[in-house]
Amino acid sequence: MTGRDQIIAALSGVVTPGCILTDSGDMQRYLTDWRRQFHGKAACVVRPSSTGEVADILRCCAEMNVAVVPHGGNTGLAGGAIPDDSAGQVVISLERMNRIRALDATALLIEAEAGVILQTAQEAARAAGRKLPVSIASEGSATIGGIVATNAGGLNVLRYGMTRDLVLGLEVVLADGTIVNGMRKLRKNNAGQDWKQLFIGTEGSLGLVTAAVLRLVPKPRHRAVAMVSVESVDQAVSLLDMALTSVGETLTAFELLSASALAHVKRHFGKEAPIRQGNWFLLIEAASSLSGLDRAFEDLMTTAFEQALATDGVVAASEAQANALWALREHITEAESRAGYSMKHDVSLPLRSIASFIEEFGMALDAIDPHAAPNVFGHLGDGNLHVNVILSDTAKAQVIMQTVHDLVATRGGSISAEHGLGQYRLDEWMRLTPRAERELVGLLKRTLDPRAILNPGKAVPGNE
Ligand code: MLT
Ligand code: ZN
Repeated sequence: MTGRDQIIAALSGVVTPGCILTDSGDMQRYLTDWRRQFHGKAACVVRPSSTGEVADILRCCAEMNVAVVPHGGNTGLAGGAIPDDSAGQVVISLERMNRIRALDATALLIEAEAGVILQTAQEAARAAGRKLPVSIASEGSATIGGIVATNAGGLNVLRYGMTRDLVLGLEVVLADGTIVNGMRKLRKNNAGQDWKQLFIGTEGSLGLVTAAVLRLVPKPRHRAVAMVSVESVDQAVSLLDMALTSVGETLTAFELLSASALAHVKRHFGKEAPIRQGNWFLLIEAASSLSGLDRAFEDLMTTAFEQALATDGVVAASEAQANALWALREHITEAESRAGYSMKHDVSLPLRSIASFIEEFGMALDAIDPHAAPNVFGHLGDGNLHVNVILSDTAKAQVIMQTVHDLVATRGGSISAEHGLGQYRLDEWMRLTPRAERELVGLLKRTLDPRAILNPGKAVPGNE
């Protein structure tokens, strides 16, 4: 293994001074995730400011056989950006690559470097009358490189798809330092392989994303937001069906919140839902540039009450009220992290099996650990549930995780809907994924990263 001093000396020869952090205090924020659940050590942290510099770093690390760990806004929930504890890996933070290279409102696209904060890109789009439709609670810190590398989902997938659906072009640096410039701005491009897909959602394990061209959409001029309570998840699904029929393609979010998720928000942030308690709550949003949305949305709510699908509810009468309703949803993750040690389960399921899954999960959890507290919420509109569990004692954590994932697998679901496998779920993916699929993934990894230096232990199994 190459020693730390040797790594630092070699990298100092290829990057500009000041680009390398070696002091343990300076490195600390790159070595622990924001929830403090994953901890690592590094030989050093490098902070390149250009694609050429990233390429030089990778070439140098490849020559020494030293592993690299790409690091974005550190908002991930699966430990994908944290190095192992060998102190032999190099963290590459892309935070200094933070230029918006171009924005074209007519062509509906933005060209941004990996370190651009998602919110900064959203604001640039908004200023041009457009919208970058990736909306996640951590958008104030998450970066473009991070959302591409994890194929981030979020609140508006129902209407606009995952990050993958918005990527038109990518610039990546391969394991040997080769720069591949695929920053195309085309809506239609069937010229051979769509190779950029290999780098989206694979957490830097096949190559490092240094910039992306993302699709924008026209910014809707009107939005309608409501929160309603429903008695069961089955009723929530029926209301989704009703909403898809009545407000149709304008539906941008259909979020499910359990009473316990809202109770955490109340306890830790003093924010309270302005409607009567129920078992489940829905946060529903529709958006359009055409007028008439308010009327259609009111009609939806009236019918939901007439058909006894909703038991109580409120439609936001102003932007401020709409934002206050959204704040309840957006504080759940932070409230959960203040409530104690929580296990994340980020699953997606066929819509019709969600109610039975939640019921069986509740019973199974009770049988394994009656003190464990479920915190269920998620993006019902796209079938993605966060089946999180707050534990006072972690002895049963593994059996809980396996039980949840088994319930998901038997229903044909996925154990990672939007957070990625990271280091957190890789073993579970290995356990539940058929051999042919694992071998195909292994083949791609060996081909693109023969020395296994790209983010080892994350997203894909290492090279055997
Ligand atoms: C969210 O939707 O708020 C996060 O993806 C879920 C989580 O924190 O578990
Ligand atoms: Zn989510």
